[in-house]
Amino acid sequence: MKIIKGINDKNKNDIVKWTNEKGKDFLEQWAGASLDFPLTVSQIDNMSNIYSIFCENEFIGIIQKIREETENVHIGRFLVNPELTGKGLGKRALIEFINLIFQDENVNSITLNVFDYNVGAKKLYEKVGFKVVNVTENPMKKYMMIMKKGEK
Ligand SMILES: CC(C)(COP(=O)(O)OP(=O)(O)OC[C@H]1O[C@@H](n2cnc3c(N)ncnc32)[C@H](O)[C@@H]1OP(=O)(O)O)[C@@H](O)C(=O)NCCC(=O)NCCS
Repeated sequence: MKIIKGINDKNKNDIVKWTNEKGKDFLEQWAGASLDFPLTVSQIDNMSNIYSIFCENEFIGIIQKIREETENVHIGRFLVNPELTGKGLGKRALIEFINLIFQDENVNSITLNVFDYNVGAKKLYEKVGFKVVNVTENPMKKYMMIMKKGEK
């Protein structure tokens, strides 16, 4: 498993294809309201701090540092190829990404948001050590979760 900053044009097209085949709700599930359906390569071009996930040299997904705050990094836009989900790849990638972020000694915590209906993703975040810190409902029920350095 390798996590590499940036994304090449071919892999941008994979993200577009995986997403648009599944539809508008799927885009919202992994990107919130920030991207417009149908997804386009140019919208991905506008995303900064995006990381590509590779498993045995195959591009399998993306994850993003959405905001780098003083001591916290807010992550999201986590997507694994829909044909490869449920095999433990996402968990391995997330753990790797967390380790990468915590290598920066100024960073003490990582946060993310997940919709209530996204039961599988929320379970995964709990398994790797994230805890719910805030619940909002505008209009969709959503959790903010946090992982603190050294807690798991
Ligand atoms: C969320 C996502 C990135 C996780 O990647 P993945 O490769 O499917 O996850 P894994 O196979 O590593 O699953 C890890 C754990 O989460 C749990 N899990 C994953 N999907 C689940 C589901 N649909 N229901 C219940 N549990 C689930 C599994 O129990 C697994 O635990 P285990 O390894 O102890 O068995 C991937 O499913 C995905 O791309 N989903 C669509 C986009 C999305 O919703 N992104 C998250 C936005 S917040």
